[in-house]
Amino acid sequence: MAKVTFITKDNQEIIAEGESGSLMGLAKAHDVNGILGDCGGVGSCGTCHVHIASDDFSKAGELTELEKDMLEFEEHVTNYSRLSCQIEVNDVIDGITVSVVN
Ligand code: FES
Repeated sequence: MAKVTFITKDNQEIIAEGESGSLMGLAKAHDVNGILGDCGGVGSCGTCHVHIASDDFSKAGELTELEKDMLEFEEHVTNYSRLSCQIEVNDVIDGITVSVVN
């Protein structure tokens, strides 16, 4: 079980809990504004771009090559950027805070 805090661009805080699937899917299931997931989670659209809180970044695991390539085309990329569809919801990410970019 993971509890994740999403912060939208208009500073809405949404706390979501999930056990499996992707972080993008969790956001969509909780109607988090700004997470569109247009490609269905295959890492090709960039509409699930988030910034992971710096203290939590390592919990989200390693970026894949696909993800690194895709982020090169995104705006507002930081050292804490991730595609939320590439992050698995599991116990490891419990407690993380994620800011929505779009
Ligand atoms: S949902 Fe398309 S890149 Fe994540």
